[in-house]
Amino acid sequence: MLFPDYRPRRLRQNQALRRMIRETVLTVDDFVLPLFAIGGKNVKNPIDSMPGHFQLSVDQLLKTAKKVHESGIPAVMLFGVPDKKDALATSAYAKDGIVQKAVKTLKDSFPELLVITDVCLCQYTDHGHCGIVDGHSVDNDATLDLLARTALSHAKAGADMVAPSDMMDGRVAEIRGILDDNGYSHTPIMSYAAKYCSYYYGPFRAAADSAPKFGDRRTYQMDPANSTEAIREVTMDVEEGADIIMVKPALAYLDIICRVRQEIDLPVAAYNVSGEFSMIKAAGKMGWIDDQKVMMETLTSIKRAGADIILTYFALEAAEILNGMG
Ligand code: PBG
Ligand code: ZN
Repeated sequence: MLFPDYRPRRLRQNQALRRMIRETVLTVDDFVLPLFAIGGKNVKNPIDSMPGHFQLSVDQLLKTAKKVHESGIPAVMLFGVPDKKDALATSAYAKDGIVQKAVKTLKDSFPELLVITDVCLCQYTDHGHCGIVDGHSVDNDATLDLLARTALSHAKAGADMVAPSDMMDGRVAEIRGILDDNGYSHTPIMSYAAKYCSYYYGPFRAAADSAPKFGDRRTYQMDPANSTEAIREVTMDVEEGADIIMVKPALAYLDIICRVRQEIDLPVAAYNVSGEFSMIKAAGKMGWIDDQKVMMETLTSIKRAGADIILTYFALEAAEILNGMG
């Protein structure tokens, strides 16, 4: 098809034609909103680098959950900011831990809103690593049991789905095993399967107080230069029993989302992470871009790349636009 016989502009003449041939359509069904739960009452601590986001005590969390539910967003991803940290991350798997309490309250009030819990230890360890530390290295196998106990405690509190983000080898099998052994064979696992060691997590680590106190996460999170390795990581989690696999971050890794979508036949989630959110907000605030337009373009690009599910701090704002209220 060559010009002048073929003219691509023929199908771009008006909005109706453009709508008719549009290949990617965002909907509120695609979104998961991450939320930060903290102890206390009436706490709403703004996260400076993430405008519109807060550390919320459980009572405040309910107000946000109401908005999320009313906007048609199907799920939230819950992170905990605990009162105390220690070497064994005990508040990660405590029955009355912050996530456990928040899940229970959310499910009591909004039974239809899916509550997915992030399963990791970094907010709960005094050193800020995602696993148990031996000297200066993270002990993979010693960490598995604690991750499994954390996941089980979330399921017992009522979590609809658990999402391990630690990047220890073998954790999906360990979590699947403990859930099945305790009557939670119906609880799905969304694994952060291809999670890169990224500087785009900066604002999140401030929000969740989870930055490592020494070293970095390069010995467990993936090297940003690798793509084939992502397929191995994802395949491993699939074989261990993951129900949904995630690529994280999203924007600098659209090629990974695309490749995983082509090679794996499970639902693919992508995490539009904190730094990606903050950059758009900051440029918008400076007046350098139209942040609402860039938001929609960005979310569309993640879906176009192949994501079935998008975890994003933009979920509520984008839902407003999609629901015709923006
Ligand atoms: C912790 C965790 C991180 C994020 C989600 N879970 C940070 C990290 O690995 O240091 C990042 C989320 C974001 O940046 O929005 N395991
Ligand atoms: Zn972690």
